[in-house]
Amino acid sequence: MAFWRIKSIEQLAAEKETGPHRLRKILGPFDLTALGLGAIVGMGVFVLTGVAAAFYAGPGVILSFVVAGLASGLAALVYAEMAAAIPVAGSAYTFTYATLGELLAWLVGWNLVLEYVVAAGAVSIGWSGYFVNLLQSAGVNLPPAFTTSPFAGGLINLPALLIAGLVTVLIISGTQHSAVANKIIVALKVGVLLLFIFLGARYVDPANWQPFLPFGVAGIFHGAAIIFFAFIGFDAVSTAAEEVKNPRRDLPLGIILSLSLATLLYISVATVLTGVVRYSALNTPSPMAFALLSTGLRWGSALTAIGALAGLTSVMLVTMYGQSRIFFAMARDGLLPPIFSWVHPRLHTPVIDSLFIGAVVAVIGALFPINIVAELANIGTLTAFMAVSSGLLVLRRTRPDLPRPFKVPGAPWIPLASFGAALYLAVNLPALTWLRFVLWVALGLVVYFAYGYRHSNLRTGGEKEEALRRFAPPLPSPVRKREDK
Ligand code: ALA
Repeated sequence: MAFWRIKSIEQLAAEKETGPHRLRKILGPFDLTALGLGAIVGMGVFVLTGVAAAFYAGPGVILSFVVAGLASGLAALVYAEMAAAIPVAGSAYTFTYATLGELLAWLVGWNLVLEYVVAAGAVSIGWSGYFVNLLQSAGVNLPPAFTTSPFAGGLINLPALLIAGLVTVLIISGTQHSAVANKIIVALKVGVLLLFIFLGARYVDPANWQPFLPFGVAGIFHGAAIIFFAFIGFDAVSTAAEEVKNPRRDLPLGIILSLSLATLLYISVATVLTGVVRYSALNTPSPMAFALLSTGLRWGSALTAIGALAGLTSVMLVTMYGQSRIFFAMARDGLLPPIFSWVHPRLHTPVIDSLFIGAVVAVIGALFPINIVAELANIGTLTAFMAVSSGLLVLRRTRPDLPRPFKVPGAPWIPLASFGAALYLAVNLPALTWLRFVLWVALGLVVYFAYGYRHSNLRTGGEKEEALRRFAPPLPSPVRKREDK
């Protein structure tokens, strides 16, 4: 069947090296770890820790972080092997195209929209929460109707819309997303998390950890399914594959290092947070600022809020960029219209992708409540993890000869465990999230058969590739844009 057609690894590598869209290889392991932390550390820890503790896991949210961290760690090992063996932009979408065939690759790409676009929408809502609180602490009260989704009794979430617009403008202008800017934001947000741990530790009252599991053991896993959002993003490292100096060594390093550091930080933050404030009081959009405020450390609270705002902004930047890379890869393969590969000749950015993505993120942020959006992002990501884990097993069988600079130890058990862990977390998401997800996949199938199936380069024999070659100047890397200035 045509829709099982596979894009060979050799073909992918050749397109990357000879195609019209070559990127410059300038990133090292430190840049990649910073990129990973830029995408990972954000709303999950700054916002969802509170909700997960208050409604799902209680102080057991500490263990939720351990569970979600382990599941993500398994997936990270799988991504590390795949990214080092197939260092091509496009991440899970590309890996699937090379292993499980076009239809599944399309569906993975389609679900990555949930991971990147929908997650960015969720993060914009988290940003709005911190922003509103920060203004409140400065004595400025915005009318709730304009800071709340219609689903939660408001009219529109204007701050969320605003930040989506601003990030889009920044992305299009290409002035911000440099490795240096990312490193500064990462240093700021990691610094703020460390400060929170340090300041909060002195106010921990062990009585707040009792009862530890008010929602039972199941609560740990429900909490993990929500908190999983905090780990989304390490795979964004693999979307930078074509810009890495030594991808075969550095991609695995960047993926594993950024995830490990984030996990350690998260577990410490959750321990301190639930020790400072009773879990039941943590139903707030800015739990860390709230906790420090409750100890009387106003300046610490304000600083946390500023670090959170910067951190959330960087997550939006990296995820919206990651999405543009994936759309770009899909358009290069003919599965999306060539317009998504168009690069503005002067700005050197894929303006259409960025505008489209920005508009969707703005609508999500303005109108939807945070939990619906974050849960959809989780399910989209978890299915990508499942696809990549299966892809690894397939590739081990079909291409035993392929050079694998990094190999997952204990295969097939670790990839199988990664698949199982992702499935288990997905099963722990609410039924309504599954329903929304099924509808999303059904829509994806309609779009594939209406467009991608017929326009795929593998079917048209590269005519589209030729058209693209004439259509688009090279897509510069975000870092290169900075250097060009
Ligand atoms: N992991 C990212 C965050 O928590 C998506 O914001």
